[in-house]
Amino acid sequence: MRIIETHAHLDDPQYSEDLDEVILRAKQAGVEKVLLASVTMRDIEKLKALESKYPGFCYAMVGVHPQEVNASYREELDAFDREIHSGKFIAVGEVGIDLYWDKTTQAEQEIVFRHQVASAVEIGLPIAIHARDAFQPTVNILREFDKNKLRGVLHCFSGAPENARAMMSLGDFYFGIGGVSTFKNAKFTERLSEIPLDRILLETDCPYLAPVPMRGKRNEPSFLTFVAGKLAQIYSVTAEQVGEITSKNAEKLFF
Ligand code: NI
Repeated sequence: MRIIETHAHLDDPQYSEDLDEVILRAKQAGVEKVLLASVTMRDIEKLKALESKYPGFCYAMVGVHPQEVNASYREELDAFDREIHSGKFIAVGEVGIDLYWDKTTQAEQEIVFRHQVASAVEIGLPIAIHARDAFQPTVNILREFDKNKLRGVLHCFSGAPENARAMMSLGDFYFGIGGVSTFKNAKFTERLSEIPLDRILLETDCPYLAPVPMRGKRNEPSFLTFVAGKLAQIYSVTAEQVGEITSKNAEKLFF
């Protein structure tokens, strides 16, 4: 089976001891490519170094995560501008709005998100979106842009098919599914099959959110075989077909 992992944080210190083995296990599981989500410009050199160390396998995004938005967000945005105009990145991400942890920075989060979406549209890059307890404010910003130029993925999707349709009306959007889909209490999976499989991407968000039966452990790209297995049940296809279709989706969006 083949898999494209569309959202990983392999620069996390949790991999500092054994990243070569993590990559090897990913390849053995059929993972062909890993997209590295960016969180802060302080770590962008680490992502670029991983891309150089694993050429043709790791691909770096560039972006400022909403939880990194604080009083000094202008500095992060200046650094983002320098990077995106000088470097070569697979996507802008992860960017968005997160009102789960902190509502007090919503206005600043919206400025930072809008700025990065505008850059992605200008350069023609896809966007990896993080929206937590913030679907409507996220949609409101995306609506400001030309739907023919907007494309990307709503990462860690756990919403209703109506949410997915709302996103698809705003641009060429896909939906990232990971370990949460295997959790017993994941209600969104009951209606997930209303979203066509040709709109789904596989992602771990590792080191977080490991799928059952690895729940609670450090997550890694090779565990996507469990997510593919879960999606195979949901869509009544084989895990191999899930891997093939979602890989084609990822290739269309990112490569
Ligand atoms: Ni992430």
